[in-house]
Amino acid sequence: MSDFEGAAEALRVAVGASRLRVEPHGVRDVLLSFTVGDELRFAFDARPGDVASSLESVAMGRREDGRAWRLPVGPHTLIAGCSGSGKGSLFWSFAFGLAPAVRDGRVQLHGIDLKGGMEILMGRDLFTTSATSAAEAVAVLEMLVAWMQERAGQYAGRLRTHRPTADEPLHVVMIDELAALTAYCPDRDLQRRAETAINLICSQGRAPGFMVFACLQDPRKEVIPSRGLFTQMVGLRLKDLSETSMVLGEVAVLSGAHCHRITRDVPGTGYVLPEEGGHPVRVRAGYASDEAIREVASRFRTSTQIPVVVPEHGGEPSTRRPRRPRASEVRDD
Ligand SMILES: Nc1ncnc2c1ncn2[C@@H]1O[C@H](COP(=O)(O)OP(=O)(O)OP(=O)(O)O)[C@@H](O)[C@H]1O
Ligand SMILES: [Mg+2]
Repeated sequence: MSDFEGAAEALRVAVGASRLRVEPHGVRDVLLSFTVGDELRFAFDARPGDVASSLESVAMGRREDGRAWRLPVGPHTLIAGCSGSGKGSLFWSFAFGLAPAVRDGRVQLHGIDLKGGMEILMGRDLFTTSATSAAEAVAVLEMLVAWMQERAGQYAGRLRTHRPTADEPLHVVMIDELAALTAYCPDRDLQRRAETAINLICSQGRAPGFMVFACLQDPRKEVIPSRGLFTQMVGLRLKDLSETSMVLGEVAVLSGAHCHRITRDVPGTGYVLPEEGGHPVRVRAGYASDEAIREVASRFRTSTQIPVVVPEHGGEPSTRRPRRPRASEVRDD
């Protein structure tokens, strides 16, 4: 087996294949799978999800074998990739996939974008709350922690898994650059509070229906201490092999997850580990143009938008925390 692994690159180049996978087959055989041609070479558009979706997973794009790439909804998800690797297309493909459920109220999205709001403001009508500063992000995250704990208390001893409905929606926190909150935030107190809230949602949110979907350029532990709390990873183009193994694990690297070999000309391309186990799969997300984002946001706009209230002078958030909207506050236009 290791002989074949050692010769894999030479074999791949010899036959002009775009990829070669080496895996054991039974006790004595080795299976070599060559990928000739590349299903993922050409970009394609992101599309809104299926209206009747059960919300178990959303269609993000394509897999290298030509099948649809679906990402499970529920596990806390980390998208890692260097600048220009196409994190934006994964962010929007996921939001597009959930958009019909946003319109019918089964999902509420909470957007956090500390890069001046460039990413989320284009599609702001999809988001129940939008935060573009660290103080706003902390207000939103702490509000969600309170809702999560309230819901978990109601479920205790009664329900083990949450099913999204308009009365009890799935809350998805979508963060464009996680490190802006957890590592590069100049205000230490806000950084600590953001980290605590994210850790709480990641460790307790799944059962009561709260999920985090975060993008990140630099996967090192100093930048994202709570990396281990994310249970679903997508590795886009990364700087080197060590970054790839930080994101997907050493075993995945050995079995063909080569994020560090993805070229710049195929943004939105990455590797995922299939939920059912097995080898890493190369995938590509659909591309969401600015016009597409505006169009989907206006077609599937949420009927629940909550203004973010930041307590003045760092006051206790519990007194000023945005309340859960009463029916009269819910926007419906
Ligand atoms: N799936 C895709 N198909 C085709 N082109 C894409 C795709 N995703 C992104 N691009 C293009 O690649 C460029 C970089 O993408 P994007 O801005 O999403 O990167 P990023 O990872 O978010 O970078 P940064 O960390 O700097 O924000 C964009 O100009 C975009 O047009
Ligand atoms: Mg980006």
